[in-house]
Amino acid sequence: MAQVTSRRRPPIARPPPPGERQVRGAASAGALVIRPVRRRDLDPVIAIDAVVTGLEKRAYWLSVYRRYGAGSQPERAFLVAELAGRVVGFVIGEVRDWEFGSPPCGWVFAIDVQQGVRLGGIGTRLLEAIAACFRAAGVTKLRTMLTRDNTLILSFFRSQGMMAGPLISLEMDLDPTGPAA
Ligand SMILES: CC(C)(COP(=O)(O)OP(=O)(O)OC[C@H]1O[C@@H](n2cnc3c(N)ncnc32)[C@H](O)[C@@H]1OP(=O)(O)O)[C@@H](O)C(=O)NCCC(=O)NCCS
Repeated sequence: MAQVTSRRRPPIARPPPPGERQVRGAASAGALVIRPVRRRDLDPVIAIDAVVTGLEKRAYWLSVYRRYGAGSQPERAFLVAELAGRVVGFVIGEVRDWEFGSPPCGWVFAIDVQQGVRLGGIGTRLLEAIAACFRAAGVTKLRTMLTRDNTLILSFFRSQGMMAGPLISLEMDLDPTGPAA
């Protein structure tokens, strides 16, 4: 499995849309800040997610904030990207030990950048930041899962050097009328 920072592929040869050139400059020049989430960031996080998923899930995000954002557990990370004082993206992940029979590794559960500031390097900066958190927690492998038809997120992760790993996902439907514990 590739590591995030060392196997970045060459960029796709196409210019960013005119409005987004400034963002790439900002992302690399330091105007972009990647920092741990704060409670007041939840509204923009919920709004960014709602545009991507089509659902506003306030209760879900409060619970994610309590689990991943509200403490200082080194194995959990909920980071936001702030551009000119505005939250424009986020990434969430966690180090999981020995699950699925694998040695400890860092899992990225979610990454989103607000439409309009995409293709400016913000997603890359978010992934680099969470990779640094995972490294600090002592792991050297980063994993994620994505839906097969989400070619955008697949292109993004591939651009960062990620490749298919050794795990496959399996699932089945549960009969809702079956026995429940
Ligand atoms: C994927 C996502 C996080 C990328 O954020 P971003 O800030 O645009 O990413 P970057 O600017 O750092 O792009 C890095 C590279 O990813 C690839 N990439 C990003 N967007 C792409 C697109 N629309 N088409 C093809 N490749 C793309 C490119 O290789 C790009 O490098 P380049 O600009 O030098 O060519 C953002 O598009 C997003 O939030 N999408 C929706 C995410 C989603 O579906 N989340 C739910 C599941 S977690």
